[in-house]
Amino acid sequence: MTRRSTKLLAFGTCVIAILFAAAYSAPAPSKSVRGSTGGRSHAAMQAQIALGRHMVVSHACGECHGGGDNPAAAFWLDGMRDTITQQFRIGPFVTRAKNLTPDVATGTGSFTERQIFNALRYGLRPEETPDVEITSTTPGQGNFPLHPHYLAVPMPWMSWRNMSNEELYAIAAYLKNGLKPVSHKVQDSDGPPDFWAGEYTVAKIGPYPVPAFPTANEKGGR
Ligand code: HEC
Repeated sequence: MTRRSTKLLAFGTCVIAILFAAAYSAPAPSKSVRGSTGGRSHAAMQAQIALGRHMVVSHACGECHGGGDNPAAAFWLDGMRDTITQQFRIGPFVTRAKNLTPDVATGTGSFTERQIFNALRYGLRPEETPDVEITSTTPGQGNFPLHPHYLAVPMPWMSWRNMSNEELYAIAAYLKNGLKPVSHKVQDSDGPPDFWAGEYTVAKIGPYPVPAFPTANEKGGR
C-alpha cells in the first residue's frame, strides 16, 4: 500500500467514524415525541416524518394554513396572512387558519403530538383539551371532554378523522419535528359560546370511526 492510499484509508475511516457518531448522537426524542415515536430509531422517525409530509402535501393543508402544496413556498404552514383565502366568515364569526409550525409562542410548539392527533381525529382544540388518550366519541366518556371545545369551522377535521392512527400521528410528527418554527401570531378565531358543539354532533357529521369492512354495500372478497 502506498503512503497516499494509507492516508486516504485513514481519512475514509475517520469520515465513517464521524458519520456513525453523528447518526448515533441524533438528539433524543423530546418529551412530546414520546407517545408516538419513543424508543424508535432515527430512521423510523425520519420515515414517519416523510409520511406526514406526504399526507400534508396531498391533503391541501397549505391551501388554508399557507404555502399551497409546496413545502418550499414562502410562509409554508405558518398561518393566516391572506384575508381572502385564509380567513373565513362563518355567519357572524371570523375564523382564521392557525400557525402550524412548532413555534412555542405562536404555533404548535407547546402541544404534544397526542394533542395534535386529538385535534385531527376528534376536532378538539389542542390549547383547551387535556393531553390524554381518548377512547370514545361520546362527550363525557372515554376521556372525550364532556364539553368539547371544537376547532373553528371550516377546519375540515371531519375529513381527516378516518385516517389511520399511523397517518394522523405522522402528520403530528411532521408538524412538530419536520418544520422549522416560525414566529407568526394569528389572531384567535371567533366562534359561538359552545365552541361549535352544536355543529359537530354525530347526527350532523356522521358516526366515526368507520364501520368494519365489509358493510352491506361492500364485497368481502374478490
Ligand atoms: C379549509 C381550510 C383548512 C384546511 C384545508 C385545513 N385547515 Fe387546519 N385549521 C383551519 C382553521 C380555520 C383553523 C383554526 C381553528 C380555530 O381557530 O379554532 C385550523 C386549525 C388547525 C389546527 C389547530 C391549531 C391550533 O393551534 O389550535 C391544526 C393542528 C390543523 N388545523 C391542522 C390541519 C392539517 C394537518 C390540515 C391538512 C390535513 C389542515 N389543518 C387543513 C382551516 C383549515
